[in-house]
Amino acid sequence: MGTDWIRRILVVGAGTMGHSLAQTFAQGGYSVALVDINKEALDKGASLIASNLRTLEDLHLLERGKRKEIIKRIRLLTSLEEGARDADLVIEAIFEDLEAKGELFQQLETFCPSRTILASNTSYLNIFELKTLKRHEQIIITHWFVPPHIIPLVEVVKGPRTSRETAETMKELLSQLGKKPIIMDTFIPGFIVNRLQRALAREIFHLLDNRYATAADIDTAVKASLGIRIPILGVVQRYDFAGIDLALQFMKNPPINLVSEDKPSETIKRLVHQGHLGVKSGRGFYDYSGKKMEEIMRDRDIKLLKLKDFLEAT
Ligand SMILES: NC(=O)c1ccc[n+]([C@@H]2O[C@H](COP(=O)([O-])OP(=O)(O)OC[C@H]3O[C@@H](n4cnc5c(N)ncnc54)[C@H](O)[C@@H]3O)[C@@H](O)[C@H]2O)c1
Repeated sequence: MGTDWIRRILVVGAGTMGHSLAQTFAQGGYSVALVDINKEALDKGASLIASNLRTLEDLHLLERGKRKEIIKRIRLLTSLEEGARDADLVIEAIFEDLEAKGELFQQLETFCPSRTILASNTSYLNIFELKTLKRHEQIIITHWFVPPHIIPLVEVVKGPRTSRETAETMKELLSQLGKKPIIMDTFIPGFIVNRLQRALAREIFHLLDNRYATAADIDTAVKASLGIRIPILGVVQRYDFAGIDLALQFMKNPPINLVSEDKPSETIKRLVHQGHLGVKSGRGFYDYSGKKMEEIMRDRDIKLLKLKDFLEAT
């Protein structure tokens, strides 16, 4: 099937993920329509794209002069129909709400040409069970990681009726964009990475809610141990180095009563109640007040890009 026929991309939702997804495809040379129901989200997305590209330029990862060209490839729209009518591929990155996604897919199936591949960036939801879907063969999950213009992994998840061609096309296209796609033939909520993150989250909030450790101590502990080891050894290969007999021994040890279910964390509930929503509100576990969003993102991106560069060279 190849990917040559894919030229126009529609990204729906210009939030945390959508603006960076639009940027990624525009950097890859595609013509992109970025649609959001909220004009403010579009403006904020456009401003973040411009500053993300400037960061790439400053690190010599983008040729000077290319920034304007890339920005020109992105059309900002509030009309879904306008963005959908000539789209070859849609990446949906709206709120994580099954009903909202269902309505959107219904509209996309109406507005998009019959060839269009429809991909969802859902983190957990089984969109394949949406009753209204018609184009089962062309519907797929592509789960990216924040910030998508930097993090290489994309989990490509097939539904029971997604065609092999659709999955292979997405794999090829993502590889051409410099990404690392992994195809999963069977839907499982959370795929690979979010299942692992969810297990970790239960313990993080158990430690915080019971005041066994502070947020800063947990971050220091992880950054100074797993954070250094995981990029080199992953989470499976490390058993080869620790000794698999030792792993068996740990499994036979008395239980340490890990948290076995999800329940809303008291710490998180308190922060949300106080309006401390993280970077976007200027404060979360840490204080970002007095800094512009663009500045905070730039600082994060420079560190991520330098680390990625080092890891790719090893
Ligand atoms: N934030 C992350 O770290 C992350 C990572 C991977 C996947 N995801 C998934 O990506 C999706 C988007 O997440 P996000 O964090 O970018 O959300 P977000 O809240 O930052 O952005 C969502 C945007 O979608 C817009 N929107 C809502 N309904 C719409 C519609 N019908 N048409 C057009 N625009 C619409 C909103 O106005 C908003 O700007 C979710 O499914 C989420 O689970 C998020």
